[in-house]
Amino acid sequence: MGIYHEIAFRNTRGSGHYGTKAIFFPSVFRNCTLRSEGRFSIASPILFMVRGYYSMKGLSMVIRIAYFSWKGHTQKVATALAERVNAELVRIEPTGNFNIAIGGMKAFLSMKSPIKPCKTNLAGVDGLIIATPVWSHKVPPFVNEYCSAVSGGEEKPFHVIAEMGGRGAESAVASVKQQLEKKGMHFVSSASTVERDVDNGTFTATVETFANGILKK
Ligand SMILES: Cc1cc2nc3c(=O)[nH]c(=O)nc-3n(C[C@H](O)[C@H](O)[C@H](O)COP(=O)(O)O)c2cc1C
Repeated sequence: MGIYHEIAFRNTRGSGHYGTKAIFFPSVFRNCTLRSEGRFSIASPILFMVRGYYSMKGLSMVIRIAYFSWKGHTQKVATALAERVNAELVRIEPTGNFNIAIGGMKAFLSMKSPIKPCKTNLAGVDGLIIATPVWSHKVPPFVNEYCSAVSGGEEKPFHVIAEMGGRGAESAVASVKQQLEKKGMHFVSSASTVERDVDNGTFTATVETFANGILKK
């Protein structure tokens, strides 16, 4: 026989809920301790195996990150995230020049603007991540256009990462959430980064935590 131990894990569903997972230990380990307390520690190899399992799981999943970036910050965030979750990157691009003031107004009004043809069908994709700048506390009209063009996402999970000057990430995430849930997709987690952290490189900690949460799903 054996015993069950529980390890803590972070469930990013909702707002940072923490839970536990049971791990079965065969009896042969019954004289071992989870921490070094005189005998020998089996915590490290077990955590190593658990981590390995989750990264293998991540590698076997096909994840797509669709991002829009005007000034390059969201692109940096999306690229860093893609490296960590081994995702395919799809760039959302406007069809031509656009007026930024009109873009901001259209974002505010949750309107769409045309984008160049890009991968919007989720056949063969297990999960979608939308990486978007915050515009007018919402998302750019090009991101709205992408969300409206998404197909084949029924029952599939999605995550959102919002890049901003400082305010409005929550409503921006809510806007994407609403649009993709209408397509039958289910929201799992979100994160936000701030422009100055992207400029000075400290944003990677947020991306790391977000990526680990995505791979654990
Ligand atoms: C039209 C427009 C509206 C914006 N609205 C907001 C906003 O409501 N809140 C905020 O924190 N930042 C806002 N920003 C700042 C961007 O979110 C920020 O500069 C972000 O880093 C841009 O990402 P990018 O470099 O990928 O384009 C706005 C920027 C633009 C151009």
